[in-house]
Formats: sequence, C-alpha cells, structure tokens
Amino acid sequence: ALLDTQNLLRAQITNFTFNLGFSGKFYHTGTQEEDEGDDCLLGSVDEFWWFPHMWSHMQPHLFHNESSLVEQMFLNKKFALEHGIPTDMGYAVAPHHSGVYPVHVQLYEAWKKVWNIKITSTEEYPHLKPARYRRGFIHKNIMVLPRQTCGLFTHTIFYKDYPGGPKELDKSIQGGELFFTVVLNPVSTWSDSSNNDEK
Ligand SMILES: *[C@@H]1O[C@H](CO)[C@@H](O)[C@H](O)[C@H]1NC(C)=O
Ligand SMILES: *[C@@H]1O[C@H](CO)[C@@H](O)[C@H](O)[C@H]1NC(C)=O
Repeated sequence: ALLDTQNLLRAQITNFTFNLGFSGKFYHTGTQEEDEGDDCLLGSVDEFWWFPHMWSHMQPHLFHNESSLVEQMFLNKKFALEHGIPTDMGYAVAPHHSGVYPVHVQLYEAWKKVWNIKITSTEEYPHLKPARYRRGFIHKNIMVLPRQTCGLFTHTIFYKDYPGGPKELDKSIQGGELFFTVVLNPVSTWSDSSNNDEK
C-alpha cells in the first residue's frame, strides 16, 4: 500500500519518497501478518528513504550516559547493515523528540559518532504551540528543523474514532489548521509514524 501510494503521489510530485523511521528491535515481533509486512517493507528497501529512530524506541533523555546511548544506536545500525538499509542519509528522529530540545548533549554526541547525523527535527522549539511560531536552530553542528504536525496520531486508526469526532478532522482539512499548514509552507517536514508520534 505504501508503494502504491508513493507511485500515486509521484504522478503529481516528482520523486516523492517516503522516509521511514526504524526501531530494529521490533522487527518480527508482531502477529504473523505484521511480520510478513516487515518482510514486505524490507523487500522493497531500495524504494524508500530510511532514518534511524532508536533501537528499542527508548527516549534518549532516559539514558544515563553517552556510552549506553551509543551502544543502543549501534544495535540499530547493525540491523540496518544486515537488511540493506542505507546508513548515510544524515537524518534522524528521536522517539517523542526526546533530547532534541531541551538539548540532551549526549544525544547529539552519540548521533554524530554512530550515524554522522547532520539534520533532525523537533516540534518543541521554542514551544509546541502555537505551531506557526516553531523555529529551527543549530546545535553542535546538527541542524534542527521545525517539525510540522497534522493532528493525526498513530493510535487513531479509524476515522470514526478521531478525538472529538471525525468532524474535527474534517474541519482541520477543510480550511482549518491543517489546510493552512500545507498552503502557507513552501517546505514541509512532517513527523514519522512510530508509536505515539504523528503520521
Ligand atoms: C529524480 O530522481 C532522479 C534519480 O535519482 C534524478 O536524476 C532527478 O534529478 C530527480 N528529479 C528531481 C526533479 O529531483
Ligand atoms: C552507563 O549507564 C549504564 C546504565 O544506564 C550503566 O550500566 C553503565 O555502567 C554506565 N557507564 C558509565 C561509563 O558510566
């Protein structure tokens, strides 16, 4: 379905490519159908872009020191190398944006050491809301892009279950906040799709 959607979008947007975050620890830990989905994705590894998201989806600020962070990052890198996932894209996203702002120095150091990260993003600088005031910054030579949100979270799987009712989502799309986010921003940096983050 991702590939079909990517091709559909490519008819309108040259070279549109999904950028998929991965937490290798959860590979093949789902139902049989989900595990087959994992294999399907990795079978098309060259069709997508990929970014490291943390081996076990653990939040970087919970690590006590840089060496334990580095160790976890290497597990995800090993996973990438074993599955043909490119490791030189230079972009990463921290689970729940933890450690990006406010800055957790160990995260920046570990990212540079293991992945040579040059770019990340957060929705927290300088504040989460109002969204239009989010800005980028540079710390330790890593560029932090202001991240956009669309109000659609991974745990909302069904249209009818949208918080506040489907009407709320429709309002946002039909001339509301989401509409203006797309209209007014020449460049968009959207969130990844792992646990508790946004689609
Ligand atoms: C699209 O991708 C191809 C292959 O990587 C590249 O040669 C081309 O310049 C890209 N086009 C645009 C508009 O980015
Ligand atoms: C780093 O933290 C881990 C626990 O998070 C601990 O086991 C380890 O001893 C610590 N290493 C150093 C060098 O402080």
